[in-house]
Amino acid sequence: MTSPAATIESVLKETRLFPPPEEFVRQARINPQEYQRLHEWAERDPDGFWAEQAKILDWFAPWTQVLDWSNAPHARWFVGGKLNASYNCLDRHLANRGDKIALLWEGEPGDSQAWTYRQLHAEVCRLANVLKKLGIRTGDRVTIYMPLVPEAVAAMLACARIGATHSVVFGGFSAEAVADRNNDAGSKLIITADGGWRRGKIVPLKDNVDIALSKSPTVKTCLVLRRTGQPVQMVPGRDFWWHELMADASPDCPPEVLDSEHPLFILYTSGSTGKPKGVLHTTGGYLLGTALTHRWVFDIRDEDVYWCSADVGWVTGHSYVVYGPLANGATVVLYEGAPNHPQEDRFWQIIEKYKVTIFYTAPTAIRSFIKWGEEHPRKHNLSSLRLLGSVGEPINPEAWMWYHTVIGGGRCPIVDTWWQTETGAILIAPIPGAVPTKPGSATRPLPGIRAAVVDKAGRPVPPNTGGYLVIQRPWPSMLRTIYGDDERYRQAYWGQIPGVYFTADGARQDEDGYFWIMGRVDDVLNVSGHRLSTMEIESALVHHPKVAEAAVVGRPDEIKGEGIVCFVTLKQGVTPSAELKEELKAHVVKDIGALARPDDIRFTDALPKTRSGKIMRRLLRDIAAGRSTTGDVTTLEDFSILARLREEEEG
Ligand code: PRX
Repeated sequence: MTSPAATIESVLKETRLFPPPEEFVRQARINPQEYQRLHEWAERDPDGFWAEQAKILDWFAPWTQVLDWSNAPHARWFVGGKLNASYNCLDRHLANRGDKIALLWEGEPGDSQAWTYRQLHAEVCRLANVLKKLGIRTGDRVTIYMPLVPEAVAAMLACARIGATHSVVFGGFSAEAVADRNNDAGSKLIITADGGWRRGKIVPLKDNVDIALSKSPTVKTCLVLRRTGQPVQMVPGRDFWWHELMADASPDCPPEVLDSEHPLFILYTSGSTGKPKGVLHTTGGYLLGTALTHRWVFDIRDEDVYWCSADVGWVTGHSYVVYGPLANGATVVLYEGAPNHPQEDRFWQIIEKYKVTIFYTAPTAIRSFIKWGEEHPRKHNLSSLRLLGSVGEPINPEAWMWYHTVIGGGRCPIVDTWWQTETGAILIAPIPGAVPTKPGSATRPLPGIRAAVVDKAGRPVPPNTGGYLVIQRPWPSMLRTIYGDDERYRQAYWGQIPGVYFTADGARQDEDGYFWIMGRVDDVLNVSGHRLSTMEIESALVHHPKVAEAAVVGRPDEIKGEGIVCFVTLKQGVTPSAELKEELKAHVVKDIGALARPDDIRFTDALPKTRSGKIMRRLLRDIAAGRSTTGDVTTLEDFSILARLREEEEG
């Protein structure tokens, strides 16, 4: 397997082209002619195009204007339109799909459940009534910190039903991270579980919540699902068992009639400062973006069994486990645990057992599967699969080819989907029946999306030249703001390059107009497909009493894409030791979560800085990666720092 640096090399040389299989084209929702027609229409008349697409949703009242961009970059889509996301994901399917399975769930220990649309609807209505009884009203914020169980999906939809804005926090985040997010959102209530299963162990979610709530003054109530069954502390008057309140809740709860721009959810993600950003998505545009792209890119039909392996704690889970697929009435597979528990073939077992037809996962997972060996998928019948997807980071052509041949049996198109928490939905991806794929390229923007690769001044760069990936026109599922920080929204996304949305990704376009994403150009790391800010980890480190200064950089990692390397200077009198390294790693885990555990901590007497005091990150990245230094080091305050760092590298 190659390192990401070698990946860039191989991507630059990649010339293989995979046209959509004929059989696939014949039955595809979007064939090449239709694809062309949609693109031309969207270019000619964007408002008319989006207005027509929005008909895939059920609206209680029509909009009067498709896009209001008069207060740019704050967009309003489908102005005046009224709808409800839970109605679109549930009620409207009851007549024809009431007994269709909505959620096919398997817990890590092997327990399973199948919920029909009718059952999910009833659960959501009852839970919505429970939330109301606990004092939650339209416009309130609710934190959800749960394992991947059907009830987590119900929790999101129950919030949507009554117009409460959910903020889902991934179960791998720490108590500190939960508290920060509660406070930033001003959540009134948190929904959690006693625990969840991960690699045979219990993740103590409720214990974490207890710590978080001691620092979250706005959260008055905690609703607890019993999942793992171990004893947990229940604070009278604050904590309530899910099953007790649900027992006598009515299954009758009409959906709230909400404005198209009503805030549907906040999802925290890392930016280039230490403070996570609360990305705000609203109802109409977001739901349209997810439902439409889920149809187009996954070619979804009623008979499909669709599995996106993401957790609902990430945007991929929001858009392609919950809102997109359920708005389309799909059958969605959910799996709670780790891909290698109890054995490395767990995913293939699930695909065989449930006859999964569409499988969507991340390159980091694919690289682990490659490492674990072909024998695991070979043991299982994967012939039900007809389409494969990839998301979260650039996929190296070797991983793409392995996915294609070993998992897809050479017959399944692969959709490499580029998007972000902020974009809400997929923006660049092949439509499988229409666009020939190239291993490692997300191909072309979807109809209605205008993307380009430009220089700092916003001028397009020539083909095969690296530049910044930007989106040149607003789109329905775009973030509306950073919760509570309009200025940061304007500055970070629309204030970098004149007149366009700045993605913070580097990319190039080849001679066919295909996009090749090269990764982040800001201080955001992509570790196993998860976004982490170097500043966030630095700030965790400097809060440790023994640390004076810290600089965090990524280094190429075969499996994770990027690994986390921390350069740390200690306070006077503190002796560096292997134990201290472990202590600092544990400290970062406690502050942020296990996903931020540093791979390497290096002690140094001082950090290399420019004369103006800026940490020379490029230099540190080169040292972390073991590359020779190519940068200009003459502005280094102290050359001996570099020498010492190099010595350690060689030693
Ligand atoms: O760098 C890009 C990378 O993931 C970033 C967005 O991360 P997040 O908001 O956590 O959302 C991940 C799931 C959509 C992007 O800025 N990225 C995402 N998809 C791809 C990708 N890089 C290359 N190819 C992709 N298909």
